Amino acid sequence: MINVAVLGYGTIGAGVVQVLQKNADSIESKAGQKIVVKRILDLRDFPGDPNENLVVHDYNIIKEDEDIQVVVECMGGVNPAYTFVKTALEQGRSVATSNKELVAKHGAELIGIAREKNANFLFEASVGGGIPIIRPLTQCLTADVIEEITGILNGTTNYMLTKMDEEGSAFDDVLKEAQQKGYAELHPEADVEGFDACRKIAILTSLATGKQVDFEDIHTEGITKITAEDFLYAKALNSGIKLLATSWSEDGKYFAMVSPMMVEKSHPLYGVRDVFNAIFVHGNMVDDTMFYGRGAGKLPTASAVAADVVDCVKHLGTNIKINWSPEKLELEDISACKRSFFVRTKAGTEEESIKESFGDVTFVSVDGIDEKAFVTGIMAEADYTAAAEKLGTVIQMIRVNE
Ligand code: HSE
Repeated sequence: MINVAVLGYGTIGAGVVQVLQKNADSIESKAGQKIVVKRILDLRDFPGDPNENLVVHDYNIIKEDEDIQVVVECMGGVNPAYTFVKTALEQGRSVATSNKELVAKHGAELIGIAREKNANFLFEASVGGGIPIIRPLTQCLTADVIEEITGILNGTTNYMLTKMDEEGSAFDDVLKEAQQKGYAELHPEADVEGFDACRKIAILTSLATGKQVDFEDIHTEGITKITAEDFLYAKALNSGIKLLATSWSEDGKYFAMVSPMMVEKSHPLYGVRDVFNAIFVHGNMVDDTMFYGRGAGKLPTASAVAADVVDCVKHLGTNIKINWSPEKLELEDISACKRSFFVRTKAGTEEESIKESFGDVTFVSVDGIDEKAFVTGIMAEADYTAAAEKLGTVIQMIRVNE
């Protein structure tokens, strides 16, 4: 029998306990041993909860309990999660976490400690909720050089953009709805400003390259400036608007970016709606692959954490090698990236002035909106910025996913 401690009894922590208890028999047969939740750490009490007697408020009780072999961290945030996880790994315990802030910031170090101690630090749920994506990158696709990862990595914003697209709803209303459904982060900026997706693409890119990608280096734009009118233009362009987190390599250089983008109907990411996430991975041998599923929510995320617990139990005393060193990966500035841009300009802007600044463009119009909008040819970000400054009347720009 293996005893587990769960740190944090919020939505995900409670989900993990539920999965481990409800599927106990099936999990036991897969893990080869019974897995029992022995302690739960939380500042709160949970009177009436079936597990209320397992709740402790002091981490030292878990630290000093020698019967605990696996620690599950679902507290969120970097501290104190980092201290607790590091302590557990240094004690030789394995850790499963759903915490992308912790993994993005300290993943390389914690993986290193787990390796030294013949233990494991697993974090499948930190990206894409219930979607298997960490294991594919660290196990199934290790024969490939990964050349591109492009994902819809935030369920809340995908849910919001879907509602705005399908129902023409206002941004604030859909945000409230997403929060009520439990998808949104406590602080909505993490979702809507793209910070959550940024940490996730940093983790995936670190795993794909084996080096540390600092999320602070990733150019990140959220969806707060996307309006109902933008969706009317998107429809006219046979496209949708998605928050894409992407990284790719070109001639040995690496780029990464999070930004809303126009995605054509024919692209597989177009059909990813509501809270679903999808991650498109291109390897130099396997070609295109895509991973799809529920990217947020209690049980899908808990399912991935609980599966990591099973893997920890199956590999007690053996480290599963994860290639992520602390050596920093220098990302290139995005100013050299080339793509098309969808642009809206103030009413009264002359087509001639637009062509003078942007060269050949394709104009697009929507009934009832009195402004000039267009899609540029392929151009570098730096050239787009210079052209927009020269024109001086740009009111919206959305990158076009190529
Ligand atoms: N707020 C996150 C999302 C939760 O919406 O995707 C899962 O990381």
